[in-house]
Amino acid sequence: MALLSLLFMSSCFLTLSGLTFGDQSGIPVIVKDGDDAILPCSLGTNENIEFVQFEWKKEGTEKKVFTYDTGMVDSPALPGRVSHFPDDLQHGSASIKINNVQLEDGGIYTCDFPTRGKTFRIELVFGTSVIVKEGDDAILPCSLGTNENIESMLFDWKKEGTDHVFVYNPRINPPSNPGDKFKDRVLHFPGELEHGNASIKIITTQLEDNGTYSCFFPKREKTFHVELTVEPVLKDRTAENIKDAVPEPIVKILDDEGLLQCEVRDISPEITVEWWDKDNKTLPSQISKEQIKNQPYIIVKTTVTKSGNYSCVATQKRLNHQILTTTFVQLKEESDSAPQGFSVWTAILIGVLVAIFVVVVILCAAYRRSKR
Ligand SMILES: *[C@@H]1O[C@H](CO)[C@@H](O)[C@H](O)[C@H]1NC(C)=O
Ligand SMILES: *[C@@H]1O[C@H](CO)[C@@H](O)[C@H](O)[C@H]1NC(C)=O
Ligand SMILES: *[C@@H]1O[C@H](CO)[C@@H](O)[C@H](O)[C@H]1NC(C)=O
Ligand SMILES: *[C@@H]1O[C@H](CO)[C@@H](O)[C@H](O)[C@H]1NC(C)=O
Repeated sequence: MALLSLLFMSSCFLTLSGLTFGDQSGIPVIVKDGDDAILPCSLGTNENIEFVQFEWKKEGTEKKVFTYDTGMVDSPALPGRVSHFPDDLQHGSASIKINNVQLEDGGIYTCDFPTRGKTFRIELVFGTSVIVKEGDDAILPCSLGTNENIESMLFDWKKEGTDHVFVYNPRINPPSNPGDKFKDRVLHFPGELEHGNASIKIITTQLEDNGTYSCFFPKREKTFHVELTVEPVLKDRTAENIKDAVPEPIVKILDDEGLLQCEVRDISPEITVEWWDKDNKTLPSQISKEQIKNQPYIIVKTTVTKSGNYSCVATQKRLNHQILTTTFVQLKEESDSAPQGFSVWTAILIGVLVAIFVVVVILCAAYRRSKR
């Protein structure tokens, strides 16, 4: 029961907007003005720490942010704004929540277990989060917030774990974007500089663009953060050379009554294969597995009742890979009444009949002549 309520509680915290989790992997906790910030901390052993002392401090300040000692809590630096998670103590969590964070709360916090000789550091930074779909453009906002003209001020965009994304240097025109990965994919907004806006735009985002970015003004020693989430979309990733990405389906029209067969190389367990009509609606089908030339294949058969375009679609959700082969199906009954169905065969038939007629006429004439 306690575990259930804990699970429920933590999922609530994860989904509530304005609350942010981080961990001890060095990833900062990113918040906006007025958010509630959760600073995570644990011994990592999952043990009950109800009787283990811990304290939170902020680097560069004297007063303690939060202290815990066998049930007694205090928050001298931020009175009334810091709480912890009493129910989570038994699972080893010494995390705290700071309500209504203000810019001056930004900085490096330490979570200290004096009796264990363990200290963890976590950075609270101000920034925004941006979510885009893979392939869309993303605007990463950054501004000094003072509305002052920054046309003559250098600013530097970086992505965690990679090098430069974009540098605006007033002395170098046009601005350079030295990072290979971002070459020719990043723009700034020249007309916005006079309003203090150092935002950039990443054109056609890729999955690798996902991550935390920082925008730094060296002259002001100010850094702003943007957490960019690039949500993957299902698409053909053959060109990306992903291991185990299923190749294009092979499509066969088995008869002229609408029986279609699709063959997909069965190279990984998570492949799904479907027949779609022209509106991408899934058609009922029979699925079987077969060996073709000693290779495993997924065979999917369907029967269609109308002429038109049909696609066999192979999907691998894990890889966000989807690949399809489309074929035009012409049914027999419809072809009998369709004018274009006539043309080829009728023309050939008429041609043959005319040829036979001509031959017969010539033969007859020759026969008559020889009779005379
Ligand atoms: C900065 O400029 C971008 C692009 O025009 C815009 O989307 C963004 O809202 C601006 N930000 C501010 C704070 O004005
Ligand atoms: C994208 O980045 C966020 C942090 O910015 C991270 O939590 C998430 O796991 C990343 N997603 C992927 C698919 O890498
Ligand atoms: C059907 O799916 C294909 C491939 O995913 C897509 O390009 C196309 O726009 C879709 N068509 C409709 C009508 O949804
Ligand atoms: C079938 O698809 C082809 C190629 O995309 C297209 O040119 C054709 O018009 C389609 N036919 C029908 C009946 O939708």
